Amino acid sequence: MSLQAPSYIQHSELIAWVAQVAALTKPAAIHWVDGSAEENEQLLAQMVKAGTLTRLNPAKRANSYAAFSDPSDVARVEDRTYVCSAHKADAGPNNNWMDPAEMRGTLNGLFDGCMAGRTMYVIPFSMGPLGSPIAHIGIEITDSPYVVASMRIMTRMGRAVYEVLGKDGAFVPCVHSVGAPLAAGAADKPWPCNPDTKYIVHFPESREIWSYGSGYGGNALLGKKCFALRIASTMGRDQGWLAEHMLILGVESPQGEKSYVAAAFPSACGKTNFAMLIPPKSYNGWKVSTVGDDIAWIKPGADGKLYAINPENGYFGVAPGTSVKSNPNAMAMLHENVIFTNVALTDDGDVWWEGMSKEAPAHLTDWQGQEWTPEIGKQTGRKAAHPNARFTVAATQCPSLDAAWNDPAGVPISAFIFGGRRSSTVPLVFQAAGWAEGVYMAATMGSETTAAAFGAQGVTRRDPFAMLPFCGYHMGDYFQHWLDIGQRVSQAPGIFCVNWFRTDKDGKFLWPGFGDNMRVLEWIVGRVQGRAAAVSGPLGWVPEHGDLNWEGLDEVTAERFAALMVLDHATWQHELAAHDEWFAKLADRLPPALAAQRTRLSAALIA
Ligand code: OXD
Ligand code: MN
Repeated sequence: MSLQAPSYIQHSELIAWVAQVAALTKPAAIHWVDGSAEENEQLLAQMVKAGTLTRLNPAKRANSYAAFSDPSDVARVEDRTYVCSAHKADAGPNNNWMDPAEMRGTLNGLFDGCMAGRTMYVIPFSMGPLGSPIAHIGIEITDSPYVVASMRIMTRMGRAVYEVLGKDGAFVPCVHSVGAPLAAGAADKPWPCNPDTKYIVHFPESREIWSYGSGYGGNALLGKKCFALRIASTMGRDQGWLAEHMLILGVESPQGEKSYVAAAFPSACGKTNFAMLIPPKSYNGWKVSTVGDDIAWIKPGADGKLYAINPENGYFGVAPGTSVKSNPNAMAMLHENVIFTNVALTDDGDVWWEGMSKEAPAHLTDWQGQEWTPEIGKQTGRKAAHPNARFTVAATQCPSLDAAWNDPAGVPISAFIFGGRRSSTVPLVFQAAGWAEGVYMAATMGSETTAAAFGAQGVTRRDPFAMLPFCGYHMGDYFQHWLDIGQRVSQAPGIFCVNWFRTDKDGKFLWPGFGDNMRVLEWIVGRVQGRAAAVSGPLGWVPEHGDLNWEGLDEVTAERFAALMVLDHATWQHELAAHDEWFAKLADRLPPALAAQRTRLSAALIA
């Protein structure tokens, strides 16, 4: 095995680190990834040959592939995800923790020889536009070609990264292995992974990531959740910026006034759909454009505003439920150059998933390679596509992509939106009266579990800032960091909360959602531009029925709107008790300002 790095890599510390990882993992070969089209073609062909990828019918989906994972490797593994800070208290009750020295011992054992028989790929990538002052660089070492092809879509990946890095630029070292060494002459599996042992480990002080045993995106594409959220959140804490689980979108009025908002929603709340919203027909001349659908890095600018970039270069979206009705822009971007994972295949070499069309095709091959018909589905309860089936596609294929999505300076954020899935309690929309009030609302945000998640349905779980699985340090310190950022910028964005999921007494949604969310969005940008009217209430500022634009939508009558906005005081007593229970878990580091907000809110709700 040759360790020889290409001559364009001048970074001796990086080369020494690669040599060290190779000495530990003992791969059969090293491939320094350059990100070129030829290299990508060659890797795709190699994966088709190995059975990892199935080429889709080019007449249906040009240059597109389907991958099928091991059934044990279909989602993020939160119980196997660790934040190994030097002190346990710094990881907080929101993270699994192990002593860093002990964890390094465990990892050294697991990684010793784990790449035997495999090629080790060295992937240079930038999270954010190359050279942007908000961007950061990572190097991922992996033994999975599926990870290489996916990172090429999801990050700015390739040789140009080394030019930005130079001889001694900073990078986040990320090591990934599927954890399945290959004995000499042994046949490989199409989706190698370790079905029994998985570790997704972060060392926040040294800003390192080590991932073992899984090939699934959220565990293996280390630029995404591991770097851009868990490690970056600790970088942001130390350096005065924010790494958030937020989409970023632009809203432009017919008069050409443009605002950008960043919005946090837990999974299964329609984040990608909202990021790619198409306004209703009556919104002639309004445009919504997409900067990002999952992650935002946000830094204070010299003018006192907050500027955000999408650190990603593509979308790793949940396929089931995506349709021409729920997200026409997403459907339009999936015609070519896509890697699908765990979807079902049609007999003519196309893909299908639950919710793509009203009627399922008469015959499919399901994500586990078994025959599937609507009848079999009904009898067995088996889904054709896995509920967490994904598409991986470049941002540039999104029809609603914002013109500034790649601007190294980022886009100025005028409003933050927080939303969960709540069948009752939380109104359709309100604006927090101030920054601390907004931080309190985001810190206590809850969302009801759905059938897509493991466990009981309809239970409200606290998911502060939609960051519970992704904050790389103590959540109480994270709340304080948000409070501090608000003090530091002179033009802090407005903070809004929304709830698209309120239901009537028969369990029917009161709000039409999808494109009609534009009506709420218009009010939000109107508020931050000083145009839209509101009245004051216990939670902050709320619209009256006449403050929203109802053209083309008769179904939300004044009565229905009242039901969407009502604050039931008895329900809120339960809600406040749930906030107390949640805050008690963080008591050792809960900012006093949030305890003060809790007192203020209960007084306001009684008044
Ligand atoms: C995602 C997630 O995949 O939040 O984006 O789990
Ligand atoms: Mn996400």
